[in-house]
Formats: sequence, C-alpha cells, structure tokens
Amino acid sequence: MKEHGKIPWDDPQISRRMLREHLSQRYDAASRRTKLIKKHVDWIHHFVLADQPSKILDLGCGPGLYSSRLAEFGHECEGIDFSPASIEYASTKAIQKKLACVYRHEDIRTANYGVDFDLVMFVFSEFNTFEPEDACLILAKSFQALKPGGKILLEVPSFDAVEQLGNQPSVWYSEKNGLFSDEPYLCLTESFWNEEDAIAIERYYVIEETNKDINLYINCTQAYEESQFISLMKSAGFRDIDFYPSLTGSQNQQLDGMFVIIASKSTAEERRCSI
Ligand SMILES: C[S@@+](CC[C@H](N)C(=O)[O-])C[C@H]1O[C@@H](n2cnc3c(N)ncnc32)[C@H](O)[C@@H]1O
Repeated sequence: MKEHGKIPWDDPQISRRMLREHLSQRYDAASRRTKLIKKHVDWIHHFVLADQPSKILDLGCGPGLYSSRLAEFGHECEGIDFSPASIEYASTKAIQKKLACVYRHEDIRTANYGVDFDLVMFVFSEFNTFEPEDACLILAKSFQALKPGGKILLEVPSFDAVEQLGNQPSVWYSEKNGLFSDEPYLCLTESFWNEEDAIAIERYYVIEETNKDINLYINCTQAYEESQFISLMKSAGFRDIDFYPSLTGSQNQQLDGMFVIIASKSTAEERRCSI
C-alpha cells in the first residue's frame, strides 16, 4: 500500500512555530531568505509577466513573501494557504503596507480558486508532497482559474532530488524548542525510497524530554520524471510547456535540485487529468 503522509502544517501550534522558520534569515528551509526571494520575484515580474500588471494566485503562499513583493511591483495578488499563522502574518503585513493582496486560509485541494488570473504560481517544491490525484486536481483547478493565455508556474524537485531525499541517512538531533514542540525534545529521523511508487518517505519520531510522549510525523514526496510532469500538465489542458533551471532563469547556484515549469492555458478547453 502507498504511504502518503504529510506533516500537519495546518495545526495551529506547528503553524506558529513554522512561521519562525519561514521568516528565519539563517537558512533557506521553509522559505528562502529575502535576498534570494527578491531575485525570484524580479525574474517573475520581468521575464514571466513581461513587466505587465497582472492578477496572480499564489498557492501555498506561506507568509506571503513572494506575493507581497509582487504586489510592490504593481500586481494584484491572492494567496491561499492552510497555515493559520502564515495567513495571519501575510494579511497583517498586506494591510500595514496597503498592498493589493488578499490572503485566504484554506486548503488548496478544496478551495475555490476564483477566475481571471494571469498567473498561478506554486513554488518551493510543495506540489510534490501531494498525492498524484490531488496534484492533478490542483492543476485542473489552476487551469480553470486562469484567463485564456494565462500561465502556470511550478517550482518542483527533480526526480533525482526526491530519490536522494528518500536515501538520506538516519539522523537524530535535540532541540530546546523547535518546529515540533515548545519544550525540549529529541528527534529521530529515518528516510526511505519507495522505488516502485517513486516516493520518498521521511519519518520523524519526536520524543518530548519532559513527559516522554512520542509523536510520529511523516512526510512523503512524490518523484516525477520530466515526461510525467509534461503528461500531468497536458492532461490538465496546459500547452507550451517550458522548463527553466531555476526561479532566476539561470543555472541554480545552490544545487537544491529544483527546477521550474511554465505552461500556458492556450485555449478555454478543459481536459480530464490522468497519469
Ligand atoms: C515550503 S512552504 C513554501 C511557502 C511559500 N510558497 C514560500 O516559498 O515562501 C509550503 C507551503 O504550502 C502550504 N501548504 C501545504 N499543503 C497545503 C494545502 N493542502 N493547502 C494549503 N496550503 C498548503 C504550507 O502551509 C506552506 O506554507
């Protein structure tokens, strides 16, 4: 049977602690650091949107680090994320800075995306954490949300990067206060590569130091070959599918194993998604 767990990023406590990770300037973990995000936003504005004021939907927007900067370039943005702390942060910043951004606290599998977008973007690999059926659904909903001629931008991990994730060695670490608890804990991690289904499985056993409670969190990442991404996109109705080495358009300096797919809604036609 296929294992397809996901860390509950929508849990209020995990979400509150995850927000710290999104905003951290120490590493590119939950979100990239500001310097790199600015380069990505520049590329999206100048290259993908050709400097034209556009209506953008940011799926899994987190604390709005991309959409808020795109709004500063004159775009009208909407973000959807199921992390309550991230959406509260993004909404507060948008009001304070008077940005043309609206943020919605919803699950992108069930949310109504709305219509008439010029760009739907989904960055930083999260696409691959969905089961293939949900990934198809997200693409189909994105297609519907776009204007004819609109574009989808996905930043995804390569097949090899996901396989490496599944073949990571087991490690343990301790934290005084981290993502999994406000109290000291020990975290034992183990990873597996499910060759047959091309899924990387990461398991985190979290042992609280004070009450010795053990919680298990599982994160699964589906690997796709480039040809499978193409079939997924085509099945959702997208055309003119192009690949780019990174969100700056140039070869990735950081070797993070991700690349970018941009495709167009060239007709109003809809297709059934299947892989
Ligand atoms: C790796 S983070 C990236 C955040 C943001 N795009 C960025 O790069 O700064 C992935 C985001 O996807 C959100 N997410 C994951 N599954 C989701 C779902 N089913 N519905 C809505 N948001 C989801 C998480 O809460 C998290 O904020």
